[in-house]
Amino acid sequence: MSDECEVVTTTGGARAMLDRRVGEVMHPVVGPAVEALRLYCEPARLGARLLRGEPLVLLDVGLGAGSNAIAAWRLSEARTAGARLTIVSFERSLDALALALRPDHAASFGLEGAAGEAARALLDAGIHETARTSWQLVAGELPGSLAQGPAADVVFWDPFSPRANPELWSVGAFTALRGRCRAGATVHTYSGATAVRSALLLAGFFVGVGEPTGAHKAATCAAVDLADLERPLDRRWLARLGRSTAGFAADAPADAYLRVVNHPQFA
Ligand SMILES: C[S@@+](CC[C@H](N)C(=O)[O-])C[C@H]1O[C@@H](n2cnc3c(N)ncnc32)[C@H](O)[C@@H]1O
Repeated sequence: MSDECEVVTTTGGARAMLDRRVGEVMHPVVGPAVEALRLYCEPARLGARLLRGEPLVLLDVGLGAGSNAIAAWRLSEARTAGARLTIVSFERSLDALALALRPDHAASFGLEGAAGEAARALLDAGIHETARTSWQLVAGELPGSLAQGPAADVVFWDPFSPRANPELWSVGAFTALRGRCRAGATVHTYSGATAVRSALLLAGFFVGVGEPTGAHKAATCAAVDLADLERPLDRRWLARLGRSTAGFAADAPADAYLRVVNHPQFA
């Protein structure tokens, strides 16, 4: 067993996964079970979308301890109707999932019973299938590995912070992601940083404010179609971007501000 990860207790009292290599806790305040629903499954309206007739593809970017993916898997398995859900999880290290699956931790990460068996199959064989849900692993380095997955309807974008994972919050990474999104796709991420939102706009997404994450911060939702955003960023956000000293990712083009101002979202 690797000692790269450790299960810790968050300030909110939940059990969560610490990755010692980067010094960051996954789902650090309210913990994995609550955050997976509040910041990812619910804003994505996953339950309602699963009841439509069309098969749905969910890209789970940063599998980690599997909390976001297993929340989606449970929603899919709990229904009695609707089309098939394919979850594709992207990850370069399976240490966190292996630790979360240990008998003393599985319940804290929602990995008991059938959910634990599904996650164990993903870990051992890279795939788990039921009548309603397919769960597949794409092992390797993001963002390049996105090209190995199918086109997306829903994306859970959950890398480490921009400090630890700058390559995954860049204009280049979001441009690669935009290329993997179908019409009607939505993207959900915990970060509400101005530079993250401007990078999503520069990559061609429409971008809106997501759910509160605590301490006066909010998550972000992005979409291929503006109509899929409940609270699109508005001209007040644009004014704040103009005043920000950290408004853009390192790879943003020199005319990034002008490009954002001219984005169709603000027309
Ligand atoms: C915040 S954790 C994900 C938490 C996870 N979504 C969950 O629900 O437990 C970020 C994950 O992204 C993975 N990661 C970071 N950079 C990566 C990269 N360049 N390629 C592939 N995986 C990466 C890390 O190994 C880590 O497991």
